Amino acid sequence: MEQVAGSGARALKVAVAGKGGVGKTTLTSLLAGYFRDQGRRVLAIDADPSPCLGEALGFPAAKLEMLAPLSEMDELIAERTGSDSGGFFKLNPRVDDLPERFSQVHDGVRLLLLGSVQHGGAGCFCPASTLLQQLVRRVMLSKDEVVLLDLYAGVEHLGRATADSVDVMLIVVEPTMRSIKTAIQVRDLAADIGITNVLLVGNKLAGEEDVRLIAENTSGIPVAGVLPQSGAATAADREGSSLYRLDTSLSLAIEEIATRLESTVAAAAS
Ligand SMILES: Nc1ncnc2c1ncn2[C@@H]1O[C@H](COP(=O)(O)OP(=O)(O)OP(=O)(O)O)[C@@H](O)[C@H]1O
Ligand SMILES: [Mg+2]
Repeated sequence: MEQVAGSGARALKVAVAGKGGVGKTTLTSLLAGYFRDQGRRVLAIDADPSPCLGEALGFPAAKLEMLAPLSEMDELIAERTGSDSGGFFKLNPRVDDLPERFSQVHDGVRLLLLGSVQHGGAGCFCPASTLLQQLVRRVMLSKDEVVLLDLYAGVEHLGRATADSVDVMLIVVEPTMRSIKTAIQVRDLAADIGITNVLLVGNKLAGEEDVRLIAENTSGIPVAGVLPQSGAATAADREGSSLYRLDTSLSLAIEEIATRLESTVAAAAS
């Protein structure tokens, strides 16, 4: 049920990270639905070079076809950074109008594709990554706005470009030691770029054993909540439809995660 954002709502920028296939996109789409229903304006940014957040949000194919990743818009990048006028380019390109101009909206959620930002921890110093970096840093925000950044799997993207300006990073894990190991690497790299507000989200939990595995191996990362293994998630994925509202246990879990996330950000800001 849609609500109007309360006066206590604050602008929120969240990055979602973790090992490949753990459920980053699924979590991002569920949070988008939750915050939209709270009356917040939601900008979902797909930072995966092979994007699929649009499908998870239930965007129709026709709208997705109209979306191109910003990193592939050579003319725009050249125009904004001045990079075709010789060896130098602007480090501070204008970005404020990009979300409005290059996104699509479906069911109250705005979607923007970032494309391939950079690879390697040191980062690429080029016009495209400068534009995207500025966009992620400066896209913000009226009080009721929420930006959700669905990151590329693993740890390589955690160079400075993508996520260093977020309020909180959610690291998704499955009940596997491998995904937990990646989560610890992500947490450590996030700390290197100044993100200390990091929360763990357990996904695809099928029983007590899974709950225990995650609880016993958090390596000190606070847990925002856990999402159960869900047949509805598989079905929604198969059909390319939105999972939000299809599974009550997921809805309850996402509410808990979002509440924890907001209170963590509020505590860090005070
Ligand atoms: N709670 C869940 N229950 C059952 N299946 C799930 C759940 N969460 C995610 N999945 C399934 O797991 C697969 C991976 O999910 P998703 O695409 O969200 O992961 P990801 O971390 O974004 O992957 P990638 O690294 O490829 O971007 C999908 O098939 C999705 O439907
Ligand atoms: Mg994904």
